[in-house]
Amino acid sequence: MNKYLQHFNPARSNTQPKRRVTAMSHTDTLKLTATQTALDRAAALLAEGQTVAFPTETVYGLGADARSGPAVARIYAAKGRPAFNPLITHLPDADMAKRHVAWTDTADELAAAFWPGPLTLVLPLRPGHGIASLVTAGLDTLAVRVPAHPTARKLLSTFGGPLAAPSANLSGRISATAASHVLKDLNGRIAAVIDDGPCPVGLESTILGLNGEQVTLLRPGGVSREDIETVLGRPLQDRDHSDVLTAPGQMQSHYAPSAAVRLNASSARDGEVLLGFGQMGCDFNLSTDADLAEAAANLFEFLHQVDRTGRPIAIAPIPATGLGVAINDRLRRAAAPRHL
Ligand code: TXA
Ligand code: MG
Repeated sequence: MNKYLQHFNPARSNTQPKRRVTAMSHTDTLKLTATQTALDRAAALLAEGQTVAFPTETVYGLGADARSGPAVARIYAAKGRPAFNPLITHLPDADMAKRHVAWTDTADELAAAFWPGPLTLVLPLRPGHGIASLVTAGLDTLAVRVPAHPTARKLLSTFGGPLAAPSANLSGRISATAASHVLKDLNGRIAAVIDDGPCPVGLESTILGLNGEQVTLLRPGGVSREDIETVLGRPLQDRDHSDVLTAPGQMQSHYAPSAAVRLNASSARDGEVLLGFGQMGCDFNLSTDADLAEAAANLFEFLHQVDRTGRPIAIAPIPATGLGVAINDRLRRAAAPRHL
């Protein structure tokens, strides 16, 4: 079994009734399950240029046909996303990715080791790539990813084309790891959501920038730096933080709950909800066993739950090793001063 789907339980999909929507105005978002009939309906909406949220092993994505400017524009509109922040294109396999980007030996090595799975590769666009310029926000590179989640894979093969898909949340808010999170932010703003239970990894993909032999870590995520360096046999480069164009969208305040967030807390102060890690007294524990994979899978769900209490959040220290690097990255952004 693919290691990114260890916690995946296909029996958990729900059975909400289907409702019809008109093509352009979403008074209510259509709720779909992961049956083939529902995926046919979702693929038909995508072919009409509509937006559909779907589960991946990392977080729920908000998909649209990456070849269609108007379809991709609906993603930006639904999320309220700044137009300069480019999107990841999801594909069923590496061969499909090669149609759109200039492939390299390094890309081959990484894809063989980690695809399908939570790794995104940024590569130069190829001539005749066919991708709408709104996807890359005008850059000459494209972020490509082959997801491991069976429902994402079935949707991609049913649709038969590349899907641009950012995380299915309002821009700058907490990422969605359940269909209920998607609906909280986007109900009425998107055509449909496919509900297939919680996302097993719970953190977005690791993003690598590939420039010839040089590989730069643009965003830590579901595949750890250590695992990538083992495959490459050399260290990853670090992102140049002064160069916004190498990693647009890496804004400081991101994944932000409504309430204030305090990091590295050993106990709760007055009124705070304490999000713990390991053996400790707290309101929510990311992992009592101090297991970073479990903490990653719980992170956004717990932030959503704490956010609903409206109380300030204190978060215990999380070790900055393996998946803990990505967890700490998301927590720092959640705690950063808000620009909204
Ligand atoms: O796990 C994931 O990656 C999820 C699921 C849905 O696949 N997607 C996701 O997308 O996290 P999003 O849009 O929330 O984050 C994509 C990040 C953004 O920070 C964006 O700036 C960066 O990828 N990105 C996209 N294209 C890029 C490019 N050509 N060069 C550099 N960064 C890029
Ligand atoms: Mg996002």
